[in-house]
Amino acid sequence: MWLFWVLVTLVLIKFLNKLSNGKCYADTVMTGKVVIVTGANSGIGYATALELARRGAEVILGCRDDKKGQEAVESIIKATKNKKVKYIYLDLSSFKSIRSFVEEFKRMEAKLDVLINNAGASGMGLKKTEDGIIRDMQVNHFGPFLLTVLLTPLLVKSAPSRVIIVSSMLHKFGTIQDINEEGRHGWFQNYCNSKLCNVLFSNELAKRLEGTGVVVNSVHPGQVNTSLYRSTLLDKIRSLVLYTFFKSPEEGAQTSLYLAVSDDCDQVTGRYFADCSESSMSWKAEDRGLASELWYMSEIFVKLRPEEKI
Ligand SMILES: NC(=O)c1ccc[n+]([C@@H]2O[C@H](COP(=O)([O-])OP(=O)(O)OC[C@H]3O[C@@H](n4cnc5c(N)ncnc54)[C@H](OP(=O)(O)O)[C@@H]3O)[C@@H](O)[C@H]2O)c1
Repeated sequence: MWLFWVLVTLVLIKFLNKLSNGKCYADTVMTGKVVIVTGANSGIGYATALELARRGAEVILGCRDDKKGQEAVESIIKATKNKKVKYIYLDLSSFKSIRSFVEEFKRMEAKLDVLINNAGASGMGLKKTEDGIIRDMQVNHFGPFLLTVLLTPLLVKSAPSRVIIVSSMLHKFGTIQDINEEGRHGWFQNYCNSKLCNVLFSNELAKRLEGTGVVVNSVHPGQVNTSLYRSTLLDKIRSLVLYTFFKSPEEGAQTSLYLAVSDDCDQVTGRYFADCSESSMSWKAEDRGLASELWYMSEIFVKLRPEEKI
């Protein structure tokens, strides 16, 4: 009987994915634009980087594995003939690595047009990192927070520029209470919490950057067949069924691409998108007080220096 309901659920997901297969139709050429995509060696990030390279952008892949990062660069160059695709080592579970990434990026580039905070983890660790943060929480929120804040002066200098933060519809089940308390939340709740942080962070950053020419938006990519759910029971099920029922990484990349390239959204900021159109975020995500509480908490957790504050 349970198998029947699993099948019904999967068919429903397939049906919803077919109904909600938003596509980026903008034909914007990105030559001359500098773009960072984090977690670009696989899944949605790889598909996003590939399409941006195809449009002529200089794409910098931020990945935590040298071999996978280099392989992704080679494969994108081979597919697009765009030689301006590069890799810089970036481990979001280490604040030291994030700071080195930013330094190296600034040595290489004088501007930044688009920052896509795509990398994410789920079920990879509820233990704390060397920085004292629950691992998945650091990879999904505190790391991207530090990365973005450190790159903000360059984004402002390069304006008009764009920041895209890949969240999830699961943000609707998140909380920011006790988000760094070991043993307080299981892996799934932890993931939902981190995705709520993504939307709150996006909203607060958009507010703080109003009038600077930097627009900031968050994204739900849909249910996508990627390796995100590794190390969990879902991993076993994934290889069997996700291919059939979920979106492909190329389909999952459409909303990030839309926000990165479309002229329709060059003035839109502080919004949440799914299927290449604006969508409704949860009431918690809209809470201004919660967003500034998270911002303050994040500044402390990432040990932001006074001169780095926005
Ligand atoms: N797939 C879905 O159904 C779905 C739904 C909603 C939202 N999302 C979001 O979409 C984004 C992309 O995920 P995906 O589905 O494409 O999964 P994925 O294929 O597993 O990609 C995740 C990427 O993040 C990287 N990453 C993990 N830990 C990292 C770290 N410590 N430092 C730097 N990079 C790290 C991974 O690198 P490695 O390959 O080295 O691990 C990988 O490149 C995530 O933010 C996820 O939360 C996905």
